[in-house]
Amino acid sequence: MQIEIVNKKRHEIDADAEIVCVIEKNLDHPWVEEKELLQLAGFEGGQDETCFLPEKRRLYVGSDSLHHDDIRSAYAAALRALRKTGAKSVKTGLYLGKCSAQNVKAMAEGMVFGDYDYDAYKSEKAKHPVTRVTIACEDFNGKEIDCGKAAGYVQNAVTVARAVNYTRNIVNTPPDDMTPEILALKAVALAEENGLECIVLDEKGLEAENMGAFLAVSRASDHPPRLVHLSYKPENPRFKVALVGKGLTYDSGGLSLKPSDYMVTMKSDKAGACAVLGILKAVSELGLPIEVHGIIGATENMIGGNAYKPDDVLKAKNGKTIEVRNTDAEGRLVLADCLCYAQEKVAPDYLLDFATLTGACVVALGEYTTGLMGHDRALKHSFSKAATNAGELTGTLPFNRYLKKLLKSDIADVCNISSSRYGGAITAALFLDHFIEKEYKHKWLHLDIAGPAYVEKPWGYNPAGASGAGVRMTVKWFEQTIKQLNREEKHASH
Ligand code: BES
Ligand code: ZN
Ligand code: ZN
Repeated sequence: MQIEIVNKKRHEIDADAEIVCVIEKNLDHPWVEEKELLQLAGFEGGQDETCFLPEKRRLYVGSDSLHHDDIRSAYAAALRALRKTGAKSVKTGLYLGKCSAQNVKAMAEGMVFGDYDYDAYKSEKAKHPVTRVTIACEDFNGKEIDCGKAAGYVQNAVTVARAVNYTRNIVNTPPDDMTPEILALKAVALAEENGLECIVLDEKGLEAENMGAFLAVSRASDHPPRLVHLSYKPENPRFKVALVGKGLTYDSGGLSLKPSDYMVTMKSDKAGACAVLGILKAVSELGLPIEVHGIIGATENMIGGNAYKPDDVLKAKNGKTIEVRNTDAEGRLVLADCLCYAQEKVAPDYLLDFATLTGACVVALGEYTTGLMGHDRALKHSFSKAATNAGELTGTLPFNRYLKKLLKSDIADVCNISSSRYGGAITAALFLDHFIEKEYKHKWLHLDIAGPAYVEKPWGYNPAGASGAGVRMTVKWFEQTIKQLNREEKHASH
């Protein structure tokens, strides 16, 4: 599906169908030409409500407001409904709000999401009849916009939304078809396509790096672990970022075995790693002027005669010893070694990790919200603002010294679980904090995506299954941080 924006009015464009948005249920707007027909059909224009008038070739969709979240959702619903009409080409006008760029992007993004289905394993594939969307450079409130600039916004949004869908596809892939080896091959393929550097470490490589925690988790699996280090290095980067992703291609819980009901969906425990891949895909395709490293710890957490056990003491890459009291708290063990690797090899200006780390985070924030944690208030603030602007939800969970004490071990430097049943999302992050060197404390952000990464029921424009959580917010944060740096530089030079 191609989306373009042209310097024309809606009536000058030839298409099989047109999308018309009804804002705030206002059927009296001049663009709503079939008010009576719509009323006869019982269409009220509620959010995401659609009505197709075949003889007029118009698809009406409701949006509660001009807020970008509502517009994104309405356009996703509109495209999904249009796919059933068989229309091949579609046209629409602009619905600009407070920020024109944001709404143009939301429209394009919504349509790419509305065209998404995960049907790799269905004998009968979903249909994607719409091949071309033409957006007229004509705003429904008469707001002026530079058509050339708007074309750039569309391009940006389509690139990012496709990277989100790419992430969704990998997360949705069943565990036997997305083993650590295959996930590493996906990274290699991305590197080849997008001109990235890529290093893959196998068990021998992990041993050479003293990654005792990561190796312990991987031991009982028949599929060997992989550490992937991707890098995107443009000339004269503005700053350097390391992204670390939890890539548990399956989490059975290990010997602290999950109950069967909780094991279902654990193919999604690789969503952090997949988000990192999606972010690198988007950043390299957008050509952002920053150096980005993606470090993925890919493994399964399985049972077997050689499985690591509760009571084992492991030694992480930074030399710290870890008492294992629950083998289902495995993500933090893999991340501990990968975070050490990122600091040592990359020496980044920012260190972000993405992980479906705790059920506790889902209890705290609900299924749709990413848990944001770290030591730096300004960093957390700027990141959560970017997430909101990108259409993703975050909630900040605060650290405190008392929770940190709950990780104390009698026999090792730290315990892999807290001694309390409460505050599990924060104590997991505070465990990771043991593997963040002093100079990186204020450069580090931890994102627990256990809730939004994989939801079994559709929500808004997100389909059932993987959502690609983390990709849009991070790309947006990069863009905003680059802009902010540019502004500061301009000020300094005056
Ligand atoms: N992968 C799970 C966390 C998870 C739970 C992700 C639900 C998505 C949905 C993680 O490895 C895990 O099992 N965490 C344990 C930690 C506990 C043993 C301290 C949990 O959350 O129960
Ligand atoms: Zn687990
Ligand atoms: Zn896990």
